Formats: sequence, structure tokens, C-alpha cells
Amino acid sequence: MIGAGRAGLLHAQNASRWVPGAELACLVDADASVAQRAGAELGVAAFASIEDALEGASFDGVVITTPTFTHAQIAVLAAGAGKHVFCEKPMALSVQECDEMAAAAEDAGVVFQLGFVRRFQSEFVEARRRIEAGGIGRPMVVKSLTRGPGLPPPWAHDLRRSNGMLAEVNSHDFDCVRWLVGSEIERVYAETANFKGEAHGVSTPDFYDNAVVTLRFESGALGTIDGTCPADYGYDARVEILGSEGLLVIGENRSAPLLEIRTRAVGKIPTYSTWPQRFEWAYREELQSFVDAALSGGTPAVGAADGRAAVAAVVAANRSWLESRPVSVASEVPV
Ligand SMILES: NC(=O)c1ccc[n+]([C@@H]2O[C@H](COP(=O)([O-])OP(=O)(O)OC[C@H]3O[C@@H](n4cnc5c(N)ncnc54)[C@H](O)[C@@H]3O)[C@@H](O)[C@H]2O)c1
Repeated sequence: MIGAGRAGLLHAQNASRWVPGAELACLVDADASVAQRAGAELGVAAFASIEDALEGASFDGVVITTPTFTHAQIAVLAAGAGKHVFCEKPMALSVQECDEMAAAAEDAGVVFQLGFVRRFQSEFVEARRRIEAGGIGRPMVVKSLTRGPGLPPPWAHDLRRSNGMLAEVNSHDFDCVRWLVGSEIERVYAETANFKGEAHGVSTPDFYDNAVVTLRFESGALGTIDGTCPADYGYDARVEILGSEGLLVIGENRSAPLLEIRTRAVGKIPTYSTWPQRFEWAYREELQSFVDAALSGGTPAVGAADGRAAVAAVVAANRSWLESRPVSVASEVPV
């Protein structure tokens, strides 16, 4: 486990308790006090760097849960040492970095899986199955949103180290709409806003906490993605897919004609509070899938090409907002 922060601890606990075939061998965190605390809590050796872990411990794979700007370097190093790689989303900061990571895994013949957890959540999987079976006809319009309750860690406020909230929060949406519609995202237009940054003491340049992106797919389908973090009322992930023959809605609507959810309505919130709660079993399933692929030499359910496609769309969306114009996703991909 490389990175013992929010995502790292969740995956470490899942690997220890819920994933047959997996054994948590050791963990790494660049912050010595975090590493020691987490190592003691989980009963494994803790190291300050992946280089130290490669030297001091025996393991078959890594789960990378460090900040986005470190993913490429760690993944290339791990794959080069023959370790299977599970990398949290977003795969990296640029398409170029994604290509280096994919090439390193391919050259080493190791499994590379991306942490797009929604691909393992039952209602998302079932929606994809129904769309593929033709139940709602040809997808015409997709709407996907994610709202998180609190600010992500400080590194994620900085566009240059995280690609902003479109990457940190909405990477899942970019991957999901592409997967559900069954087509690549061709063009994006993004608007962002910063409503709560100042109240949370965030003064990082280019910080935004709300974003709306309009999408056009290669298939001709249209879509929107929106993200808000912090939304404060809870964790909310919903998708609507309108096809030529019907509609699919993923997520809670409680059959209510009008729904109001107030911030801090403790005990009465008709939605989830946090992402570990919303996708509890899917986090376990995705690790199980990684371990199974590593043990069998199989192809992971979500791979480097999926991670790269989401990064290309996020980079294009940030450019669209910064330059106030629609941007072709292909223009962000090196030829
Ligand atoms: N799939 C999901 O739902 C989900 C949820 C949360 C976070 N994430 C992703 O997980 C990653 C980490 O996010 P987080 O919120 O856990 O961050 P975090 O800041 O809480 O934790 C990151 C940890 O990595 C450590 N670290 C930093 N650089 C390191 C390095 N070079 N080597 C080893 N350790 C290092 C830090 O000390 C910190 O403890 C991000 O890519 C994020 O997008 C995914």
C-alpha cells in the first residue's frame, strides 16, 4: 500500500479483511508519522518510500493511493520492479504520463488496474448490462453528477498538482459516461465556479469547487457532468441515461416529486454521508478483481486505456474552462 491517507487506509483495511487471496505485506507513506501510525494500526512494516519497501519487504503488487502528481513515477518504478499495479484515479496528470505508465506495465508483463470503483458497483454494472442488451435503445443523452461532503486534501486544491476537482471528484463520471454510453468523449465545454473556497480558507489560484461540463460523444450522444465539493449535505452520485427506447436512472430519487436535503440535517439525510459508505462493497470488489487478475494473469476489468481516456477528457475540460471555448479531447492526446 503506497500512501496511507484517506483512500490508502480504506484499501488497506479492505485488503486485510475482505479480499480472499490478498495479504497486506507492508505500507509506504512519505510522512514518517503517518507511516508509523498506520503500520502499527494494521500490523505491518511501514516504509518511507517505495524504494525502501522494494529493498526491505517481499510483495507481488502495489496499490497506489498517493496524490495524483506522484502516480506516474511510483507506477513506473513498481512495474519496472515486476510488481502488479492497482492505481487510484485519476491515473496521472497528463496523457503522456499515462502512456509511460501503460508502457512500463506492458513491458514488465504485470497487471495494471485503475481504481474506477463505480465499475464494480452493482447498479452501475446492471445499467451497463441493460444498455448493452439494447433495453433502452441507442443512448442519446447522459447526465452524471458527483457531490462530496468535504474539501479534498490541500494538494487537490492545486490545479497543477491534481488537475482540480474535475479530476479529483469527476474522474469517476468521465469514466462512467464513456463506459455506459459505449463511446469515446469527442468534445467538451466546461464552466466552473468557486462559491465556498474563501470560507474554507482556500486561496490557491484557479481553485474551483463547482463545475459543469457539456459533452459530445463520437456516437453523436450528448451529455453533462457536474461536480460540487464541498456540497456539505452528503455524498451524492447519480446518473441518468436517456435512450431512443427508454430511460435508466442510477442512484437515489426516493420516488419523491420534490426532494429537499438541508446541509447539516443530521440523522435525517436521505442520502449517503461519505464515499466509503456509498461504494462500500464496490471498493472490496475492485481489489478482489485486481488480486484475481494478478493471480491468474488475466486482464483487469478497468485498465490503463480507461484511465488515459478519463485523463484526456479532464485535461480538455480544464483547458475549455481556462480558454472559454469548446475543446476537442483528441487535441489533448499526443500523436
Ligand atoms: N476512488 C475513490 O473513490 C477515491 C477516493 C479518495 C481518494 N482517491 C484517490 O486516491 C489518491 C489519494 O487521495 P487521498 O484523498 O487518500 O489523499 P491523502 O492526502 O489523504 O493521502 C495521500 C497520502 O500519500 C502520502 N504521500 C504523498 N506522497 C507520497 C509518496 N511519494 N510516497 C508515499 N507516500 C506519499 C501522504 O503523506 C498521504 O498520507 C488520489 O489519487 C485520489 O484521487 C480515490
